[in-house]
Amino acid sequence: MSPSTGSSFSLSIAIILLSTQVWADSDSIERKFYYCVNPHTIPPVPFSKTFFTPRNASFTSILNSTAQNLRYLAPSEPKPKLIFTPLEESHVQAAVICGKELGIQLRIRSGGHDYEGMSFTSVTESVPFILLDLANLRSINVSIEQNNAWVQVGATIGEVYYRISQKSQCHGFPAGLCTSVGVGGHITGGGYGPMMRKYGLAVDNVVDARIVDAKGRILDRKSMGEDLFWAIRGGGGGSFGVLLAWKLRLVPVPTIVTVFTVPKTLEQGATKLLYRWQQVAENLDEDLFIRVLIRAVNVNSTTNQLGQRTIRTSYQGLFLGRSDRLLQVMKRGFPELGLSQKDCKEMSWIESVLYIAQYPSSLRPEFLIQGKSYFNRSYFKAKSDYVTEPIPEQVLEGIWERFLKEDSPLTIWNPYGGMMSRILESATPFPHRKGRKIMIQWVTLWESEDQDRANKHIDWIRELYDFVAPYVSKSPREAYANYKDLDLGINDVEGDTSLKKASIWGSKYFKNNFKRLALVKTKYDPDNYFRHEQSIPTLRVLSE
Ligand SMILES: Cc1cc2nc3c(=O)[nH]c(=O)nc-3n(C[C@H](O)[C@H](O)[C@H](O)COP(=O)(O)OP(=O)(O)OC[C@H]3O[C@@H](n4cnc5c(N)ncnc54)[C@H](O)[C@@H]3O)c2cc1C
Ligand SMILES: *[C@@H]1O[C@H](CO)[C@@H](O)[C@H](O)[C@H]1NC(C)=O
Ligand SMILES: *[C@@H]1O[C@H](CO)[C@@H](O)[C@H](O)[C@H]1NC(C)=O
Ligand SMILES: *[C@@H]1O[C@H](CO)[C@@H](O)[C@H](O)[C@H]1NC(C)=O
Ligand SMILES: *[C@@H]1O[C@H](CO)[C@@H](O)[C@H](O)[C@H]1NC(C)=O
Ligand SMILES: *[C@@H]1O[C@H](CO)[C@@H](O)[C@H](O)[C@H]1NC(C)=O
Repeated sequence: MSPSTGSSFSLSIAIILLSTQVWADSDSIERKFYYCVNPHTIPPVPFSKTFFTPRNASFTSILNSTAQNLRYLAPSEPKPKLIFTPLEESHVQAAVICGKELGIQLRIRSGGHDYEGMSFTSVTESVPFILLDLANLRSINVSIEQNNAWVQVGATIGEVYYRISQKSQCHGFPAGLCTSVGVGGHITGGGYGPMMRKYGLAVDNVVDARIVDAKGRILDRKSMGEDLFWAIRGGGGGSFGVLLAWKLRLVPVPTIVTVFTVPKTLEQGATKLLYRWQQVAENLDEDLFIRVLIRAVNVNSTTNQLGQRTIRTSYQGLFLGRSDRLLQVMKRGFPELGLSQKDCKEMSWIESVLYIAQYPSSLRPEFLIQGKSYFNRSYFKAKSDYVTEPIPEQVLEGIWERFLKEDSPLTIWNPYGGMMSRILESATPFPHRKGRKIMIQWVTLWESEDQDRANKHIDWIRELYDFVAPYVSKSPREAYANYKDLDLGINDVEGDTSLKKASIWGSKYFKNNFKRLALVKTKYDPDNYFRHEQSIPTLRVLSE
């Protein structure tokens, strides 16, 4: 755990002489990295468990293991020269020191859920990279007495929820709905979920962190200082260093919560109801979160000879309380949904995690510590929007028209209000706070590797995105950094990208916080070592 900071050439040479045989015909990046890493770690790296070259049989399965968007596993996608899977924090330090010394880029991966696959591939073949896969760093220590948890980045958020629930029935943590996202990338990009109206985002409930900076030092909140600690709570992954762990503040949850799902099709008045929901959602009781999942479905799956389709909107709710109080809240705030006692299911908070993730009711919470998603992975393209005024019914109809023409379209509408409106835009880099009524995610999914098919789906979602432009946030059109969308713009492959150019995408994710992020970046990583397609740029000249 105490690596030396300088390089140790004499030791490297000794090792080269001993084991040069292994590398006789191998690539020089592997070789150089291997000899650099070794003297930097005490105890030494067990290479047979951490070092995978493209010639190792398990290379592809490790690369594949957590990649969520299958588009980025295609054979044409740039592959790492090497996969390094640290077992100790000191291995991460060595990877940063050596990667930088050798001028090799690192791609950092925790849970692999990056929408554009940028944690394990790249838009260009021209810059070789090493994949630093942190999946083995996944310990979780929950302390109910201190009301917090230290969590390593390679854990999934579902594992965190499970470990908390094993210690207490009345504690939880407000982060994502999808249980397989990695704590590393997810929290540093914001992290919203069904308790956001009550407690805010995951980043709003982080109290400390451990990070390896560009000099290979391990810093915590005290040693990194408040500006870097601010930047990593929402500024997105892969810009400031390699996060090792987060310290999370637990939040209270009732021992019994209530969940429900109420579907409405077009035939059942879905359009009018969705308009109404947009008007009321942000003002509902803060204990209540109702999101709407919208798909194109067959009118009747048993008699679908005509292939007739409709739109199904599903109102999925989590209420931090019992059903009797929920029914009163709904009667006052959103009677139009017609929620009744028979729609309501009471359960523990950890069971609600599985319910909201849409897992089958037969699945037990223990499933969460397998670190997997129940659903098969697919090929997808997604985009996000923030809504400040309800989208008119006529425009909703235009969206339905487009949905009915697409194979597997999905859009998820998340309510705002509550705690989200009380946190200042500048409190964290995540700026989408007061005044937003809804966050929308647009998705299209498909099952085939075929590039022409993929292009058709991508064209479809771009056209939809253009269509809704007049009805969502403007100047800038805001987007969620955790729903990475390279259509918004990317950095230059070589050299530094100007703040002006990067602001095209950066202001959408971070608004006025973008410049401050660039200042922090310049201070902590002036050489711009930690970089990717949408990493925070350094300021080239101080006057910029
Ligand atoms: C199916 C699915 C469901 C989702 N549901 C939600 C949701 O409910 N709520 C929500 O807010 N988001 C959700 N997301 C988005 C998710 O939060 C982001 O994709 C997030 O970045 C994933 O983190 P990861 O560690 O799994 O990803 P990775 O692909 O490992 O990393 C994402 C980015 O962070 C960087 N990074 C990863 N680890 C580190 C580290 N340790 N240090 C520094 N940089 C790092 C990577 O280089 C990359 O740039 C979902 C995504 C998917 C695919
Ligand atoms: C990977 O391959 C190298 C030789 O190509 C071998 O020495 C090493 O043991 C292999 N590692 C693993 C983890 O299989
Ligand atoms: C990747 O993993 C999935 C799930 O385990 C598997 O179905 C698929 O065949 C793998 N693909 C490759 C390219 O290894
Ligand atoms: C959890 O505690 C163990 C034992 O003290 C320690 O080795 C580990 O590093 C801790 N994990 C985190 C994330 O703090
Ligand atoms: C679908 O059609 C079958 C057979 O006509 C009918 O029994 C069933 O109720 C229909 N389902 C729905 C959801 O309309
Ligand atoms: C995943 O895919 C397999 C093979 O196509 C299928 O049998 C299985 O039902 C799928 N699982 C889910 C949850 O969709």
